Amino acid sequence: MTIDPLTPLSVAATAAEAYRRRIADAETTPVDDYAACLARFAEPLPERGGEGEAIIRELVAKAEGGIRAMTAPRFFGWVIGSSHPTGVAADWLTSAWGQNCANMKAAPAASAVEAVVAEWILELLGLPCESSVGIVSGATVANTVCLASARGEVLRRAGWDVEADGLFGAPEITVMIGADAHATVFSGLRYLGLGAKRVVTIATDDLGRMLPNALEAALGKAHGPTIVIAQAGQINTGVSDPFDAIAPLCRAAGAWLHVDGAFGLWAAASPKLKHLVAGIEQADSWGTDGHKWLQTPYDGSFAIVRDEAAHRRAMEITASYLPSVGGGERDPSAYVMELSRRARGFAMWAMIKQLGREGVAGMVEADVEVAREMAAEIAAIDGATLVCPAEINQFMVRFGDSDALTLATIEQVQRDAIAFVGPSEWRGQWVMRVSVCSIATTPEDGRITVDAVRAAWEKVRARG
Ligand SMILES: Cc1ncc(COP(=O)(O)O)c(C=O)c1O
Repeated sequence: MTIDPLTPLSVAATAAEAYRRRIADAETTPVDDYAACLARFAEPLPERGGEGEAIIRELVAKAEGGIRAMTAPRFFGWVIGSSHPTGVAADWLTSAWGQNCANMKAAPAASAVEAVVAEWILELLGLPCESSVGIVSGATVANTVCLASARGEVLRRAGWDVEADGLFGAPEITVMIGADAHATVFSGLRYLGLGAKRVVTIATDDLGRMLPNALEAALGKAHGPTIVIAQAGQINTGVSDPFDAIAPLCRAAGAWLHVDGAFGLWAAASPKLKHLVAGIEQADSWGTDGHKWLQTPYDGSFAIVRDEAAHRRAMEITASYLPSVGGGERDPSAYVMELSRRARGFAMWAMIKQLGREGVAGMVEADVEVAREMAAEIAAIDGATLVCPAEINQFMVRFGDSDALTLATIEQVQRDAIAFVGPSEWRGQWVMRVSVCSIATTPEDGRITVDAVRAAWEKVRARG
């Protein structure tokens, strides 16, 4: 019998579809933990190759018990989009087509789709149309690409070419960052030689918003090249910095303003919510995720820079063997860190087509509505305290005003597996953190989750 090497594709498609049909009602906690998964996968390095169909069937059999139901409608951990089936299907094709998306001459369709998505995303988020967009793997990388552009440009204005000469002997750059910035932005600062600790920390309010007067005072003391890093969507509270107040301060000081908007920037897509990020379009660069509120599959993000020349100077790759573009055309690799990479634009394109401008706005608004209702209902539970309201899609709550009781309640919710919520630390206290970021979540899912949380807390309380 001859073996058809393409059969693994249909086996995978069937398994994927079966999984997604089950997941809507699935328990939200995987049955098997890491150790159990490792035990199933661990085996000596295979000496001989196997057969594709059997390998894919084995993968499904071994992995599925440890696949966390992140696409389920009552999954509220971290900040996770739903990996929408349309985006997933486009992503399958991306792999099947096997395009190396480095270059527009080599991969014309992938490059053209990126160019279109780049324009759409600026329009969708209300960002300056002259900006350039790199499609990268996640907000961590998107922020790093933007900060590399910032680093190059603020030094160029000070008469230094960091792309050619590096940082040794360069004028010092002052980096200012809010006290409640996301941990991954510091990774970017490390990669770029700017130092995770060598920053001026700007004080924030009790929800994590940068205080404009603190920024103004710090800018008043700074000399030379300066980068200010703000954020839309604090990871715990969801609040955004007051861009309307801080952008003019940065402009007056000649500082580059970058915004980490991994999920919060999507408020700009909603006419009802865009006031929460008012003034965000005045920044110089923005990083945001597709795999959060655009519901694309993992992974995909946008590195957006107002000054295209600065973006290109920081990222462009040229080599004699690479077909050169010229003529103002957009080469995908001119805006990202990698040369060879996945054509993520296909999934982005599919999701924007799936939702449209109205669909994106409606989904963001619906998630925020569910978060607000859940927060209000959980706050009404006897013994629960709302630590921060749902300004957007995130909120936090404590139980019995104790770390131990709060953590026990979270663990109980996870064990009961009707919904998934996670822990976080905020202002020195452990909290239950809820993030609503899925197009699959309905108000009914919110109500079921509130009941699950109430039941879990009652069990914890009964145990004493
Ligand atoms: C505000 C913020 N910035 C950055 C990140 C990192 O994003 P990614 O995991 O896509 O790299 C996150 C992730 O949740 C985030 O919420």
